[in-house]
Amino acid sequence: MTVHEDNILVLDFGSQYTQLIARRIRECRVYSEILPCDAPIEQVRAFAPKGIVLSGGPASVYAPGAPMVDPGVFDLGVPILGICYGMQLVTRHFGGEVGAAGHREFGRADLIIDKPAGLFDALGERTTVWMSHGDRIDRAPDGFTTIAHTTNAPVAAFADLNRRIYGLQFHPEVVHTPEGSAMLENFAFSVCGARPTWTMASFVEEQTTRIREKVGGAGVICALSGGVDSSVAAVLVHRAVGDRLTCVFVDNGLLRAGEADKVVATFRDHLGLKLVKVGAADRFLTKLKGVTDPEAKRKAIGATFIDVFHDEAVKLSDVRFLVQGTLYPDVIESVSFKGPSATIKTHHNVGGLPEDLKFDLIEPFRELFKDEVRAIGRELGVPEEIITRQPFPGPGLAIRILGEVTPDRVALLQRADTIVLEEVRAAGLYERIWQSFAVLLPVQSVGVMGDERTYENVVVLRAVTSVDGMTADWAQLPYELLGTISNRIINEVRGVNRVCYDISSKPPSTIEWE
Ligand code: XMP
Repeated sequence: MTVHEDNILVLDFGSQYTQLIARRIRECRVYSEILPCDAPIEQVRAFAPKGIVLSGGPASVYAPGAPMVDPGVFDLGVPILGICYGMQLVTRHFGGEVGAAGHREFGRADLIIDKPAGLFDALGERTTVWMSHGDRIDRAPDGFTTIAHTTNAPVAAFADLNRRIYGLQFHPEVVHTPEGSAMLENFAFSVCGARPTWTMASFVEEQTTRIREKVGGAGVICALSGGVDSSVAAVLVHRAVGDRLTCVFVDNGLLRAGEADKVVATFRDHLGLKLVKVGAADRFLTKLKGVTDPEAKRKAIGATFIDVFHDEAVKLSDVRFLVQGTLYPDVIESVSFKGPSATIKTHHNVGGLPEDLKFDLIEPFRELFKDEVRAIGRELGVPEEIITRQPFPGPGLAIRILGEVTPDRVALLQRADTIVLEEVRAAGLYERIWQSFAVLLPVQSVGVMGDERTYENVVVLRAVTSVDGMTADWAQLPYELLGTISNRIINEVRGVNRVCYDISSKPPSTIEWE
């Protein structure tokens, strides 16, 4: 753990929006971190937070076993902001009244500000806010003043100005509360007195020094996938230790057309990294022979990756460290206040650690969100093409080829995929879409080309918009673009006579087909 001098701690009660709270605060350049709500008071104190936010959560404060904070949190003397469930907890702790259901409120509401001081500094008298709650505050605790209300929530916001404790019944962290960022900014600066010291340039400087000290004279290895996270991580570590870093790029034969050459050109030739390219298509495709089950494919690819990486690592001498592009959302996932969730897909994250190689990890982005990694990449001069790249899954095209993965089917899908990307880019939509790609189905359909009957493959076009890949909407691509892509695939990719567009959102579907 690093103690950032001016930080705001978020205690998580399991709201789907908790990460957003930390992101919004960081957007004000104040560092923010998330801990589970039941973190012991010593741990909270160790952060020396300038302020604490209590997040929302699905529970009801009077329910048996309702999550609590260590009561010591209220005695630290630092400003507190309770959001939704967090506000109800403050109410309960200080002796106010929370009313159970019957007054449910979801969606937009008109907030009327009664006392503009503090949180609502420089806002107008009315503003739109996003509500999502069952319970509501019926009576603020003694010492607290109502500072805003809505038609359905007589106490939509309250404050104890002496103790600097605030509560909001609505969610300032979501985009549907247009002035929510201003409220969080007021909390960070005016109420907590935090300074805006969290910048990407300061992060790069601090990490470069830290990595250099940690590594000393030893060797470092990095599994480079060409994706944003591993690329920026590699460039950052290279800045710190130069050629003591060796990047291993595994060409598993399941990449987009031309991708392997592009990665080599960018990292070896343009950025000057020491890069070992391992051509391992045969090894992967051999392991995938006859495999049709999605999870079996993922496992085969994950295991083969580890084998290939291991074989390369043992060839290098004195390697003690492994770079991984782990991001903060992965870290929160393991510490947050959530029940264990079912495995939907086994994610194979490139860079998985071979078990018998005892590397120490270098994970410079453990504290960062994806958009922050992009900003670091720009700071480090990583080409824009890599920074704005759409995510590409570790198992590659294998999970977009339903049924058996064969060299022919990989080649066919690569051709269709190239057309999709070319046309999406030409339409100026590449960067506005989370992902756009082609999927090859294991069915054939009848068509007619020239005067001939055909019986060929079906390709599905998938394009989605998303903020983080956790939820997604199918992208409403212009009909004209859909038409161009369909025509080009059917005309140019031999073996395809039908193109369909996937109009499913996530949930209930997923982004990838396997
Ligand atoms: P799903 O299909 O679960 O995908 O909706 C969500 C996001 O994760 C990507 N994805 C993966 N990324 N290894 C990865 O590194 C994987 O095994 C993997 N599976 C899915 C997917 O492309 C989407 O962005």
